[in-house]
Amino acid sequence: MNVLLDAETIQSRVRELAAEIERDYPPDEAIHLVCVLKGGFVFMADLVRAMGPRVTMDFIAVSSYAKSTKSFGEVRMLKDLDTGLQGRHTIIIEDIVDTGLTLTYLQDILRARAPKTLRTACLLSKPSRRAVDVTVEYVGFTIEDRFVVGYGLDYAEKYRNLGYIAVLNE
Ligand code: IMP
Ligand code: MG
Repeated sequence: MNVLLDAETIQSRVRELAAEIERDYPPDEAIHLVCVLKGGFVFMADLVRAMGPRVTMDFIAVSSYAKSTKSFGEVRMLKDLDTGLQGRHTIIIEDIVDTGLTLTYLQDILRARAPKTLRTACLLSKPSRRAVDVTVEYVGFTIEDRFVVGYGLDYAEKYRNLGYIAVLNE
């Protein structure tokens, strides 16, 4: 496995994103983060600990029918949110945007719940793989078309616990 982004590089970028998010919302207004399970959980955990006390959070799980290491396009809800989004500043927290199909589905269903604002933060983006045009306001790192693991991202449910991002060799 080759390290693509080491732990220190990720941590400092996550702190930058947290500061940018805090600056972008009026100081007295709450920010509600929606973590997309399972991949988003490490990013979410570090992000919220770099933010102030106005942050709240919830979790959603979706499954894209995956074929080997490529995601296949169809999306299914596995676990819905515990609370509604009406009138709340909401940010979707994703591990990676690849084709953009998962995120497009999530943005559509969450927008229908009438949040005050809806934005997306993803740790990684692979723009060369995009199949649909999707808006992501906060991007940690833009990467090449490589299959990566670690910091929440898995291959066959393994490697999510790595503190860094690595390229998985075949
Ligand atoms: P999309 O719908 O194609 O954008 O796929 C997004 C999902 O595919 C992510 O949330 C990941 O679960 C998975 N995925 C895409 N690329 C990678 C990768 O390089 N490593 C691990 N998972 C990936
Ligand atoms: Mg994911």
